[in-house]
Amino acid sequence: MLGSLLFLAPLVGAAAVDSNASHRDCPGYKASNVKKDAGSLTADLTLAGTPCNSYGEDLKDLKLLVEYQTDERLHVIIYDADEQVYQVPESVLPRVGGGSGSSDTSALEFDIVEEPFSFVVSRDEEVLFNTSASKLVFQSQYLNLRTWLPEDPYLYGLGEHSDPMRLPTNNYTRTLWNRDAYSTPNGTNLYGSHPVYYDHRGEAGTHGVLLLNSNGMDIKINRTKDGQQYLEYNTLGGVFDFYFFTAPTPKEASIEYAKVVGLPAMQSYWTLGLHQCRYGYRDVYNVAEVVYNYSQAEIPLETMWTDIDYMDRRRVFTLDPERFPLEKMRELVTYLHNHDQKYIVMVDPAVSVSNNSAYTSGLSEDVFLHHQNGSIYEGAVWPGVTVFPDWFNSNTQEYWNAQFAQFFNATSGVDIDGLWIDMNEASNFCPYPCTDPQAFAISDDLPPAAPPVRASSPRVLPGFPEDFQPAKRSTAKGQGTKGAKIGLANRNLTDPKYQIQNAAGVISMNTIQTDIIHAEEGYVEYDTHNLYGTMMSTASRDAMALRRPDVRPLIITRSTFVGAGSHVGHWLGDNISDWEHYRISIAQILAFASMFQIPMVGADVCGFGGNTTEQLCARWASLGAFYTFYRNHNEINDISQEFYVWPTVAESARKAIDIRYRLLDYIYTSLYRQSQTGEPFLQPLFYLYPEDKNTFANDLQFFFGDAILVSPVTKENSTSVDAYFPDDIFYDWYTGEALRGEGTTVTLKDIDYTHIPIHIRGGNILPVRVASAMTTTEVRKKGFELVIAPGLDGTASGSLYLDDGDSVEQSETTEITFQYSQKNCELQVSVENGSTLQVNMITLLGESGKKTFEHGFSLSESINLRI
Ligand code: GLC
Repeated sequence: MLGSLLFLAPLVGAAAVDSNASHRDCPGYKASNVKKDAGSLTADLTLAGTPCNSYGEDLKDLKLLVEYQTDERLHVIIYDADEQVYQVPESVLPRVGGGSGSSDTSALEFDIVEEPFSFVVSRDEEVLFNTSASKLVFQSQYLNLRTWLPEDPYLYGLGEHSDPMRLPTNNYTRTLWNRDAYSTPNGTNLYGSHPVYYDHRGEAGTHGVLLLNSNGMDIKINRTKDGQQYLEYNTLGGVFDFYFFTAPTPKEASIEYAKVVGLPAMQSYWTLGLHQCRYGYRDVYNVAEVVYNYSQAEIPLETMWTDIDYMDRRRVFTLDPERFPLEKMRELVTYLHNHDQKYIVMVDPAVSVSNNSAYTSGLSEDVFLHHQNGSIYEGAVWPGVTVFPDWFNSNTQEYWNAQFAQFFNATSGVDIDGLWIDMNEASNFCPYPCTDPQAFAISDDLPPAAPPVRASSPRVLPGFPEDFQPAKRSTAKGQGTKGAKIGLANRNLTDPKYQIQNAAGVISMNTIQTDIIHAEEGYVEYDTHNLYGTMMSTASRDAMALRRPDVRPLIITRSTFVGAGSHVGHWLGDNISDWEHYRISIAQILAFASMFQIPMVGADVCGFGGNTTEQLCARWASLGAFYTFYRNHNEINDISQEFYVWPTVAESARKAIDIRYRLLDYIYTSLYRQSQTGEPFLQPLFYLYPEDKNTFANDLQFFFGDAILVSPVTKENSTSVDAYFPDDIFYDWYTGEALRGEGTTVTLKDIDYTHIPIHIRGGNILPVRVASAMTTTEVRKKGFELVIAPGLDGTASGSLYLDDGDSVEQSETTEITFQYSQKNCELQVSVENGSTLQVNMITLLGESGKKTFEHGFSLSESINLRI
């Protein structure tokens, strides 16, 4: 078999060309006892020589399990025979079964080489993954595996990063170790970890490789000295838990990925409205003023947000009694709700040790992280000295629920509609070893009107003796227990020999110390650090769902891991108000929405750090209208950047929101589809033109659903953009003018600062509301215009999904499909469970311009129309 493979790299010995000799000299493994049946393959792997113990101890006995889970998916896991080594807990990422696949019918083939052990995954005789590039290294604190790749491959994914969408193939290292990454520098590890890459091979298809491993890692893409392309994993532990999935196109490969990590959560209709936020609103009056100013400027504002400013000296679950008193906060929320607007505030994980009930009840329920000696682990975050909830502790969910139930109580607290969670990498201002967290309790950036930060009170608990210390904890826990998959005992959990390229420094730097042992099973932070934000996300979602069980909770988190999209949305963290961040936001949202299956995603519009400019903010107001999550947010002490501050920004926002709001049902329908099937809403160009090489690296234009091509101006002081149009027909959104794409770049000109070029892709029918409105509630009452954009073959189709927009359980939903054919000038409308909504007009686009028909009909039943 191997001899017939199209791309076959040298088998053994190639590793010798690498300069990193230490682990290159390791003996590798020998496979034996290979057993195959139709659906699986197992083997024993034995260390093939003297241990090299380069970055830990070589494990002598491993096992290989290969499962043909489906015909498109192969699960390959290499793990320790004793099953002590840590594996990502099922409670964080439930595993998919499979069982229907078989090696006879699978699109993927697995071949094993017994000595030295390596394996090949191929598709139609084409090698996709070939680990003979080096000998496998499986040590107590280091794993290494290298695969050959074809020359200069088209690789994507491996987030979170701010590098180009198509990953560099030379001398590139992608470190995954969740980090509070102010200014999101490129080439560094950022807030989340998604160790999945996609390899797009044009008409041969697209495959993805997920390494389900939450340990810190460096993934290197490079060439050997003799020019051979490879990708290499270097992790600090865990096991090699691979999912290989394949599809004819990148879009379908994303769908395959959703089958592994879970379908994304469906969001409520209102969440697609405009959100306004900033860090540094002085008081509740200031927040109310912003709401008022938006309405005066006639810019639709759906949701107002408040950052940590509302808290009493930044302590979670408290209100600043002078600046954000409860009674006024409740008035604000009532006002918003009466105007069909929403309210969201921030919650951080870290709880202040100063006297407050979130701290005292957390202490009494023993939900905070402890040092191994039993004392509570302290760090420093916004409120000063803080402790951190342990999401592995089974009491923590109840504790978190109780805080939410009380503080966000609808009748006596702040009745929020959604939640913003932050600093959950987790961030810690106190650098490791953090012996004096008080020294890092910052106070210099509170707004001028705020009272000075009071020093944290010493930890005296009401009713407890002054010298009270929680009971000593067992440090052994599940580590080293056979079959437990909780982790090997006796590892150096703070200073492993292999150092990943964490931009913050050592792995415990500015985060929770990595030798912390979690409650109950005894997982260690060293292995589970990258899960902290996602575990906070699910706990917060559950707490929000308990408050309002009937509606879908909106949670926006900073830190994410594989599978987070099933629970939450994500914003891209602390970007900077500059053109580079404006541009890179496109590659970033595309990766999250399409490749990591977190469709609810957006960057801080107009930029977070530093002062924006009128021109940048005007451009960003319209680009942001084509993110799924559309929020203006900026940093304390920077100039105000609400959309009404400058005339061109206000105009740009009004124009783009008008388009977005008219398209709300198209967006909602597409997001619903993604939540049911994984088919991505936001897409890179190559998702729809997978055979057109010119699209493969294009990350400055994108598709907003299947039908809308967005081509923003990307340079300062420019009023034109070089936009690529694949071989297809497109229609200008504004004029209806047809543009016959010829696979060339077209310079779109005279684009003033308030305008964003949008084209409808031929072949689509768009259900568009006839008019926008100041809130999404009002938009939902409008009738529809059907915009028919025939494709090159003269046909077009589209769909519309309608429900009540908010409920978890829907009593009535409507699904409508539209089909148009130029040949017989016929529009077919097929309705399942009709709606009382009306179509008021039909617009037919064509090469000779657009025609509008004032056709009125209700969407209550299927009809055929001649137009
Ligand atoms: C973090 C967040 C930012 C927020 C700030 C204050 O930097 O990323 O969005 O404004 O904290 O809470």
